[in-house]
Amino acid sequence: VPGAVKVTVPVSPAVVGSGIGGGPPPPPPPGGGIGGSAAAYFLRQKFGQGVQLHVLEKGVLGGRLHTLDMEGATYEVGGSVIHPLNLHMKHFVKELGLSVASVQDGLAGVYNGEEFVFEESSWSFINLLKLLWHYGLNSLRMSMWVEDILDKFMRIYRYQMHDYAFSSNERLLHALGGDDFTRLLNQTIDEAMQKAGFSQKFINEVVCPVMRVDYGQGVTINAFVGAVSLAGVQAGLWSVKGGNKLVCSGLIYSSKAEVIPGTVVSIEPKTRTRRGGEPVKLYEVTYNTSSGLTGDTYDMVLIAAPLGRKLANITFRNFDPPIPEFPNPYHQTVTTLVHGRLNTSFFGYSDPQAFHLGAIFTTDNPKLFIHSLSVVSPAGDAATGGKLPLQSAVWKVFSKEELTKEQLNLLFSSYDSVKVKPWLAYPQYSPPEKFPPIVLHEQLYYLNGLERAASAMEISAIAARNAALLAFHRWHGHSASVDQEDLHEKLKTEL
Ligand SMILES: Cc1cc2nc3c(=O)[nH]c(=O)nc-3n(C[C@H](O)[C@H](O)[C@H](O)COP(=O)(O)OP(=O)(O)OC[C@H]3O[C@@H](n4cnc5c(N)ncnc54)[C@H](O)[C@@H]3O)c2cc1C
Ligand SMILES: *[C@@H]1O[C@H](CO)[C@@H](O)[C@H](O)[C@H]1NC(C)=O
Ligand SMILES: *[C@@H]1O[C@H](CO)[C@@H](O)[C@H](O)[C@H]1NC(C)=O
Ligand SMILES: *[C@@H]1O[C@H](CO)[C@@H](O)[C@H](O)[C@H]1NC(C)=O
Ligand SMILES: *[C@@H]1O[C@H](CO)[C@@H](O)[C@H](O)[C@H]1NC(C)=O
Repeated sequence: VPGAVKVTVPVSPAVVGSGIGGGPPPPPPPGGGIGGSAAAYFLRQKFGQGVQLHVLEKGVLGGRLHTLDMEGATYEVGGSVIHPLNLHMKHFVKELGLSVASVQDGLAGVYNGEEFVFEESSWSFINLLKLLWHYGLNSLRMSMWVEDILDKFMRIYRYQMHDYAFSSNERLLHALGGDDFTRLLNQTIDEAMQKAGFSQKFINEVVCPVMRVDYGQGVTINAFVGAVSLAGVQAGLWSVKGGNKLVCSGLIYSSKAEVIPGTVVSIEPKTRTRRGGEPVKLYEVTYNTSSGLTGDTYDMVLIAAPLGRKLANITFRNFDPPIPEFPNPYHQTVTTLVHGRLNTSFFGYSDPQAFHLGAIFTTDNPKLFIHSLSVVSPAGDAATGGKLPLQSAVWKVFSKEELTKEQLNLLFSSYDSVKVKPWLAYPQYSPPEKFPPIVLHEQLYYLNGLERAASAMEISAIAARNAALLAFHRWHGHSASVDQEDLHEKLKTEL
């Protein structure tokens, strides 16, 4: 919470794990995004009320879930849509008493820089015919291909419900989809879909535009994140009324964690001697606040922000062996909200009356300076979903670079307000993907490595639950609940 009073609660070695009241550890997840807030929630669930939880946040709660105001309404500018089968997100919203709204895009078209290669019609029957005409059975087969991957992915919920955890991202993904998933992570979506028999035209004109809108990258991204993206094309997408970031503040509140505004700069392992003379291992976390550098010691630390010099920029001091730096480039995507009228001539429509699209996707053409643009409704309010794009509307534009005035003047025939939010948005995907470890040190965990498979709110929630379960099992020495093989078969017979 920005502006909250900073309370430093030094954890005196005499109190930690003293056994009185069975005090397990107070783990602080730095980072109050969906990953950090979900971690606080799941840690509380596992460790109970006896532990102290600190969440260190350098910015505002929500992280990459963020809204901006325009014309008196609130719009998502970061993570915005949630899949109907994202069960953790669904559970949070229900548990926290938040409301959901379905996300309805206007009619979509795919622009290749010269013309629209595909335009949706308001008649779904005609859409089906058009898809069949243009792409044969590719689109139907795509649903089946994605469905199969989604089915395997859904296994995680059963594993986690039964308290199973994984000590590495590779093991977690392998437990879901076996070598099939490893192969998806080893190749591009282009390669994977070609091998599965999809046409290049379909990949370029249907698959690629979806990758561009979701991850700002083309069909060279790994096939796993590609499939996650394609799953998002299905019906039933939703978002949280008032803004998705409400889930973060809700989870933090429900976990009774204390939010400390500060930037974590370093973490160092320490050994202190308890009253009885036994050594106890702790982590000294140093963070920068508005009143300068300060710190605290903890039994356990979870890092829920992407590591890297340009990202969380946390220095690991005096670890033996040292914690290696792993390459973790993030892709820049700029979100621009524009309240104005689209310049339909830019998209080849001299007669604005003939233009009826509310969402413009693009193919991979270096000439294009945008990834997508679409009419958006205020956060969690589906009311304007069917609004005609020609009237002045709020458009959300995704691009790699910040749009210049000239570019805005090309896209819009007139506009009155513009809001810009640049992000280091998601990993720069480049198969074969290599994953950072989850266990960085004995009681030091890292959640965001799983983003290298795919970045999404639900993925951070899954990583958070896995880390909380793993931390709990390792703390108590429950090795039987970690890295179990053949879980799918085991849980089948357990029914
Ligand atoms: C433009 C855009 C569109 C997206 N669209 C979707 C979508 O439609 N659906 C979807 O599911 N996902 C979407 N995503 C992805 C999704 O938003 C992210 O995967 C998810 O929000 C990541 O959450 P996180 O908690 O893991 O990380 P973050 O949200 O990045 O949280 C990390 C937190 O840690 C804090 N922090 C960082 N370093 C430090 C430090 N040193 N000390 C203290 N605090 C620190 C940050 O301030 C931040 O609050 C989108 C992302 C972007 C950028
Ligand atoms: C994926 O690639 C890695 C090397 O990056 C290799 O070790 C592994 O065997 C590959 N797996 C599959 C299923 O192709
Ligand atoms: C701490 O923050 C202040 C201003 O907020 C900055 O001037 C200083 O360089 C920071 N220190 C470190 C070690 O990051
Ligand atoms: C990362 O932190 C180090 C020291 O804490 C600082 O010297 C460096 O400038 C920071 N890097 C970036 C990119 O902020
Ligand atoms: C609209 O797009 C056309 C075609 O690219 C361009 O010539 C024109 O300058 C743009 N702006 C307006 C306001 O029409």
